[in-house]
Amino acid sequence: MEKIAVTTTGGDAPGMNCVIRAVVRTSIYYGMEIFGIRRGFKGLYEDDIFKMSSRDVSGIINQGGTILKTKRFPEFSERKIREIAIKNLKKRKIEGLIVIGGDGSAKGAYSLYSDFNFPVVLIPASIDNDLYGTDYTVGFDTAVNTAVEAIDRIRDTATSHERVFIIEVMGREKGNLAVEIALACGAEIVLIPERKMEWNEIFDEIEKQEKRGKVSSLIIVAEGAGKASEIAKILQKRFPEREIRFSVLGYIQRGGKPTYFTRTIATKFGFEAVKMLKEGKYGYMVGIKGGNIVHIPLKEVVSGKKSPSFENLKLMEIMAI
Ligand code: F6P
Repeated sequence: MEKIAVTTTGGDAPGMNCVIRAVVRTSIYYGMEIFGIRRGFKGLYEDDIFKMSSRDVSGIINQGGTILKTKRFPEFSERKIREIAIKNLKKRKIEGLIVIGGDGSAKGAYSLYSDFNFPVVLIPASIDNDLYGTDYTVGFDTAVNTAVEAIDRIRDTATSHERVFIIEVMGREKGNLAVEIALACGAEIVLIPERKMEWNEIFDEIEKQEKRGKVSSLIIVAEGAGKASEIAKILQKRFPEREIRFSVLGYIQRGGKPTYFTRTIATKFGFEAVKMLKEGKYGYMVGIKGGNIVHIPLKEVVSGKKSPSFENLKLMEIMAI
């Protein structure tokens, strides 16, 4: 392969820039031409494609977001839109595509591969860490660290005022992010979509904490398991004597400097993806399993389900006694 392209799609994640940098520089290292596509599949459809050089990715290793910009583009599920996208690649003689993104991006990447047999490699990048086949996605570690830092501050005020705090974190309909945040910030309760808790169980747990002499509590709720504001209302009604407050962390989880771990896997994934295309291996996602770089067929990625770590959830609960 002599010409390949790279794009970022879906929600941004810290470390996407590190991946772009690795893809561009590895391509140049192997003597390939590398093209950037702005705004993901939308830019591919709109033909917003440009040649990149090593200097285009200078000074971005430490920057959150994506220099290629990104967009959600549900229209890409339409075959006629994808046909135009493929035409745009072919007219430039681009022979391979690296897609950087989360689960929506995986579906888009897979459809280009399965419907048109176009050589595609996916690099998982999402704060949600919800992609099947990889232990980590690019950006997840950074988002957990950002949330933990914010929650440490909330803990200070929760402790001083002896309050119960409900903190809503992102993750769409998955609890992976919430569980890791809850374990790392020492929460008392975590609410995730994959393990429903009845109201009575939540009430009992708060009472148990009180009996153990805890004067403040942190409850982490994954956005897919409910709204912190609603939960706060219900808890306030049940515990009128307690001061219940809530905070929604929101988009701060998506920005900021990537951590060491995010940068490392981003660079390794970017390097590996280019190498795969060069060697004619495509239709895969690059991932990391038990510390090793792995290749997972896109078909498995789009059909598999990734669960949060129930082991870590249990550990969090044990530590909350
Ligand atoms: O997939 C990443 C994510 O940040 C989810 O956690 C969240 O539900 C969603 O994106 C928000 O999407 P948008 O940026 O389109 O509002």
